[in-house]
Amino acid sequence: MKGLILQAFVLLALASSFASAFDPSPLQDFCVAIDDPLNGVFVNGKFCKDPKLAKAEDFSYSVKMPGDTNNPVGSSVTPVNVDQIPGLNTLGISAVRIDFAPYGQNAPHTHPRATEILVVLEGTLLVGFVTSNPNNTLISKVLNKGDVFVFPIGLIHFQFNIGKTNALAFAGLSSQNPGVITIANAVFGSDPPINPYFLAKAFMLDVKVVKNLQKKF
Ligand SMILES: *[C@@H]1O[C@H](CO)[C@@H](O)[C@H](O)[C@H]1NC(C)=O
Repeated sequence: MKGLILQAFVLLALASSFASAFDPSPLQDFCVAIDDPLNGVFVNGKFCKDPKLAKAEDFSYSVKMPGDTNNPVGSSVTPVNVDQIPGLNTLGISAVRIDFAPYGQNAPHTHPRATEILVVLEGTLLVGFVTSNPNNTLISKVLNKGDVFVFPIGLIHFQFNIGKTNALAFAGLSSQNPGVITIANAVFGSDPPINPYFLAKAFMLDVKVVKNLQKKF
């Protein structure tokens, strides 16, 4: 009996320590986020709309329009998170639509707060992620229509359209606000810039190359 109680306490302690680092579990059916606290209820740091006033529009959004892939990387990510669907607030989930021109790419990036599960609806994508230090193993696969792939939380990952046609994918993410850190933009495009001599040594590059990259990002 004592052992069981101790076990229960350890489990509870673990559960609460995990919960504090991730999206909170809802304490109610939903908490449609509103900016104006008039008629609102304060839950988990956000104002919630009075649930009696919730409408279908609070829980819906349309991503039928392809994103504009006419840009240097040839891809476009359309987010569907709590900013687009206020009803996602406190629910720990969101989505993205990703359009790719032929040979377009979703450059190496990470989501600090979410695991991602991606479904290919059109085209052929080379996708992958790299495990953490020291191994830095590349886990990679070519995906076709109907294939699904998972990018674990926090790991650097990418998608590359290796087909001659457009590609389309949707992904679910395990946070209402997953966040994105695009590696090249964060490292070479920070504001203000990171010292180029430091970056030259870190990336084993000529400082001229670093300065050139810093101009581009
Ligand atoms: C990482 O590499 C080491 C040395 O090769 C190996 O023993 C270990 O199993 C690897 N870990 C993973 C998670 O692949």
